[in-house]
Amino acid sequence: MKLYEVADDVVETDVLVAGAGAAGLLAGIKADDLNVDVAICSKGLFRKSGATVMSTGGMEVAVGHGDPTDNPDVHFKDTVVGGEYINDQRLVEVLTKEAVERLVDLERMGIVFERQEDGKLFQFAPGGAHARVVILGDLAGSHYMVALNREVMKRNIRMFEEVMITNLLMSGGAVSGAVGLDIKRGELIAFKAKAVVLATGGAGQIYRYTSNPVQNTGDGRAMAYRVGAELIDMEMVQFHPTGLAYPPERRGTLVTEAVRMVGAYLLNNKGERFMSRYDPQRMELSKRDVVARAICTEVREGRGTEWGGVYLDASHIPEDVIERRLGVTRRKIMFLTGLDLAKEPIHVYPTCHYFMGGVRAEPDCSTKVPGLFVAGEEMGGVHGANRLGGNSITTLIVFGWRAGISAAKYAKAANSKPLNPRDVAMERERIFGFLGRRDFIHPSKVRRELQETMWNNVGIVRTEDSINGALRVVERMKALELPKVGVPDGSRRYRMDWVEAIEFENLLTISEMVSRAALFRKESRGAHTRDDYPRKDNGNWLVHTVVKNVEGQMRIWSEPVELIKLKPPSA
Ligand code: FUM
Repeated sequence: MKLYEVADDVVETDVLVAGAGAAGLLAGIKADDLNVDVAICSKGLFRKSGATVMSTGGMEVAVGHGDPTDNPDVHFKDTVVGGEYINDQRLVEVLTKEAVERLVDLERMGIVFERQEDGKLFQFAPGGAHARVVILGDLAGSHYMVALNREVMKRNIRMFEEVMITNLLMSGGAVSGAVGLDIKRGELIAFKAKAVVLATGGAGQIYRYTSNPVQNTGDGRAMAYRVGAELIDMEMVQFHPTGLAYPPERRGTLVTEAVRMVGAYLLNNKGERFMSRYDPQRMELSKRDVVARAICTEVREGRGTEWGGVYLDASHIPEDVIERRLGVTRRKIMFLTGLDLAKEPIHVYPTCHYFMGGVRAEPDCSTKVPGLFVAGEEMGGVHGANRLGGNSITTLIVFGWRAGISAAKYAKAANSKPLNPRDVAMERERIFGFLGRRDFIHPSKVRRELQETMWNNVGIVRTEDSINGALRVVERMKALELPKVGVPDGSRRYRMDWVEAIEFENLLTISEMVSRAALFRKESRGAHTRDDYPRKDNGNWLVHTVVKNVEGQMRIWSEPVELIKLKPPSA
């Protein structure tokens, strides 16, 4: 069997990057700096791919312009306290120190952040942190994407648009490339690569309501799991406090934390600023997990609005402040809801936003699988049990940069490994097997049931019973529905239902990981709220949960967190 008989195209490169958000693009740029050949694949359109472009907020960087008491050590402390002490402190150390250097690099690439009149950077305080978020209006994400894509194009880095990486290829225990589906043509590409960087973002699509783009189906985590990488803290899923609750068809769309940063109130149906009962000091700018739980409690106890949310009210803020700081957000909300943020309250409820859990990695972004690197949200352990607002972009930039350098150095030292045509043939059979299956189950049907189940059973609040309920659905789907998932035969070009069928297995794998890890951790910490174990238990659970594929079985265990710099007061 020859490679060309089983793949429609074969591409050879040194470093293959899966994902073209900020982390993936920076990984590509930095690898290119070290003079290796680079190819970047984007499941969606370049410049519009991933969650970065949707980011309205900015990035946390401790330069001390917004608050003179701030510095990288304070940033470190806020991040670890915010993460309830289960962060990998080695990663936090890198994040907080290198953010300052990366800010300068970003400005050199043309991403120039807003200044105060004296020329110092303007910095907002997000929930649970000092005034540290640098901003670019309320549209930072598109600025990053324009600048980084321009840089990639300037360098003539090969870009594969609308190519979904579906599986990694291995040779002698190390990564030797990957298989990709070219969605435009419906053809299979075999990528031969010395190193692969996964930067496919989050997996919010396992939930019914999410701020994540439709492409965020956990592909990277699922592929890493299949080749034996370890994943940590997968139970730690962030629910951003303010997704739209109205109108129902827009439920889950993000309303940026910047609205609360400029002073908006959260009110229940009695008109009370209810955060005074949950965190009287920080109020609406408490940590995200605290605010999300508070909203959930208000609604559960009957103090919600008619749309099953609470009110977010910015009507007391001068209109010119709203225009200056939240102009794009105001227009977006007007377009989606018909409501004017400057004049009337809107309805909000938490929405799945970010995965703190992900592939376990070293500070140089390498994983336990030789040749496999991760960057951005793909990487587990940076944010522990809760991420602070603005620390996501910081993660993409700092670890995207590092992943590119590490992967390039690895590729330079590695020998090229041959691809086994048999492995590519097997992947072809798997992918093409979804097409024209008889008596098929359409992927959208099972995807929706899975999303509803995860939302209801392993969402903001979980119990042993609810999680077990989700696991029963996952097990049933693996056994009965997955083998039947398919789409009718026909053109292979732009077959998004086919893509959805391929994604479904990844969604199932991620749902199982989140559920098993949530069942395993018998305490409440940060974003992981167990109604049956309502307390944080530092005596037993100052640990990472670790998930790994061991001969086809999902194994889970715990490992103590290394408190190398900061310990919780009680430990
Ligand atoms: O609320 C927001 O604008 C989101 C920012 C973030 O997740 O960092």
